This record gives sequence, structure tokens and C-alpha cells, in this order.
Amino acid sequence: MVAIPGPSVMPERVLAAFRLPMPNIYEGELLDVADEVFARLPAIADTAGHAFLSIGNGHSGWQMAAANTLSRGDKVLVLESGRFPAVWGLFLERSGIEVETLPATPRSPVDPEAVAARLAAGPTDEFAAVLAVHVDTAISVRNDIEAIGRSIAASGSSALFVVDCIASMACDEFHMDAWGVDITIAASQKGLMTPPGLGIVWANERAIERGRNADLRDGYFDWQARLEGEQIYQQFSGTPPVSHLFALREALRMIDEETLAVRWQRHRVLGDAVRSAVLTWETPGGVELMIRERGAQADCVTTVLTPHVDALTLASVCENTAGLTIGLGVMDHTGSFRIGHMGHVNPPALLGALGTIEAGLRVVGAPLGGSGVASAAEVIAEAMATYPHA
Ligand SMILES: Cc1ncc(COP(=O)(O)O)c(C=O)c1O
Repeated sequence: MVAIPGPSVMPERVLAAFRLPMPNIYEGELLDVADEVFARLPAIADTAGHAFLSIGNGHSGWQMAAANTLSRGDKVLVLESGRFPAVWGLFLERSGIEVETLPATPRSPVDPEAVAARLAAGPTDEFAAVLAVHVDTAISVRNDIEAIGRSIAASGSSALFVVDCIASMACDEFHMDAWGVDITIAASQKGLMTPPGLGIVWANERAIERGRNADLRDGYFDWQARLEGEQIYQQFSGTPPVSHLFALREALRMIDEETLAVRWQRHRVLGDAVRSAVLTWETPGGVELMIRERGAQADCVTTVLTPHVDALTLASVCENTAGLTIGLGVMDHTGSFRIGHMGHVNPPALLGALGTIEAGLRVVGAPLGGSGVASAAEVIAEAMATYPHA
């Protein structure tokens, strides 16, 4: 079983859809599937804007957003947070974008006041875009996108607000339009429970309008061509990602059946259960929860620091003796590990993963403050008691 922060566990329904035989790509069912996917996607980001699909990973979503809105020499403000914003900034620099990074306090979310102060220090058109991650998957911090959006709006900055929800989409609550986000980026393989292979970008009219003069605009990612094209191959700049579309449609239907509100609540309970387990394991000489601020803890992934334990050995014990794959630290492979709890996860799966990690911690000789599994079960029991169970 994988408990890494993506690719996540794929539901059987999604895998069955992914395995369907190839249909005609010029007419028939596939066109309905694509229409349904495009019709369902805006609700996932809670936007009235447009959704675009790029064949690729999260990086292809970054590229699609940049190609349609930025020009060489434009300056963007990257809000530091763990690891991924820095990688995003380096990625944009390779396209000739000037990147300024707003530093963050380690193990803390972005400070919306600091964003306001930095934007107030320059002209309103200084930055073409402000880039933030909703959840940084490396340190499992969740940023307050709503508050950052308010800071940007209050500053009068003309920058587009671009948010990476690659880890958090459909796991942690998100409202693109209400929070003042112009472009949202996700990928298929995490909370959306679909195999890796699709970048997903939502853009509002302001962002699309901005793109008309972007000089990074290219033939492949171009939103205008995708919007104006009436044929399915124009929406994808070529052969559509057939199996991914079938799979994503099934995943979107599952999300709709569960409802986003219930799904966010499920992730909140499971996130609380993981954090409660880690806090119970904590003891001097053992492991430690990375993000301690309530409200800044992601509900899709949890990073655990292992200053006295070799996380690499722990991961190999879990994988090779019990069949559980956990994530290693992004910045430091031996000094932390990560537990993914995104998408298709329920209490049996999560308690099994936590129990296996707890056993693995014993094998590697980590001192434990108590049974994290017992604490996690308590958190889950509290939630289960409130559900109808007749
Ligand atoms: C927050 C975040 N941004 C960007 C990426 C990059 O996505 P991909 O590896 O699909 O290109 C990841 C991948 O884990 C991520 O977690």
C-alpha cells in the first residue's frame, strides 16, 4: 500500500475506467466524457472560471499558467513555504522570468501581513504575479490563501494571484473565486485519485485576458486556441488523453457523490488522527511533528521529523517487511518522512498505515511516548460517533 503524498491510492472504480478499451477519438462517447469532465472541473476549485487540461504532470500546469500570462523579463513574487515554491521559482527563471522570493519563517505558513508590506513597498504594477502554494507537500504546511488574497487585493497590486493546489485540491478546503485567486493549478495524481498524467489549470477571465499579450505564449499550451477550438483535438492540442479522461470523470463523479464538504471534513478528521498519532509518538530522542500551528497543518499530508532516527531505514523496514510505502523527506531523506493521507483514504487504510509505521518505529529502536494508533483511533471514534450508524 502507498501512503506517500502522491501518486495516491487509486479507487477501483477509477482504475476500471482507466482500463476501458480505446474508443473512437473523433465522435461518440469520448466527446461526452470530455464535456462532462470540463463541466465538472470548475466546481472542484469553486470557480466560475475555465478549466484547462494539459497532458503532463504538475509542472505542466505551472508551464501552462506561465505560458499564458507571463512575458520574459516580468517579475513575480514567490511566497516561500517549504520547498515547492522555490522549485517553481527556479522553473520560471529558466523561462526568463525575474523571481523575487518573500522569505518565510521556518515551519510556519506564509505571513499575509508580510505579503501586504512587500506589495506596499513598490508600485502596484511591480509584479506580474504573486505565486503561492496552498499546501507545501515537503513540510505539510497549509497557507491561508484567503488572507493572502485579501492582502493582495488591499494593496491595489495588479499582479495575478496564482495558487498551486497540486497537493491540496479536493482534500483541503479551497474557494478560488471567493479567495481572490486568478489561476489555480492542480494535477491528477493526488487528491483527484487519477493516475499521473494530467495538469489541471483553472483561470478566470482576468487571467485569460492578461494572456493575450504574454510573450511566453506558445502553440501547445495556448488557452485561446483551446477555448476557441470546437474539436476535441484542439482542446488538447492533439490526441486527447483518453484513459485519463475516463478515469478523471469517474473520480469527479465519486467526489460529487461524496460532496466536497464531506470530503474536506473526512480529510480533516484523518489529518487530526495522523497528527494525534505523531504527537503521541513524540518523546525526547524520537520523532517530532513538523508543523505545530493549528490551522496551518495540511489535511492531505503530514511531515514527521526524525532527528534521532534514520527515516531511510524506517521507510525500508515499512516497505520491505510490511508492504507499506511511506514518503521520504523532500529536503532531507534521512531527517524526516511523510505520510500521505489524500484522496481515497478511510480509517481502515489510515489506521493500518499508522500501525505499520508505529511497528516500524519500534523496529528501528525509536523511543515512543505512547501508542499513536490508539490516539488516532480515539480521534476517529469521536468522528464516527457523530455519523448516522443505524
Ligand atoms: C505542491 C506541489 N507543487 C508541485 C509539484 C510538482 O508536481 P509534479 O511532480 O506532478 O510535476 C508537487 C509534487 O509533489 C507538489 O506537491
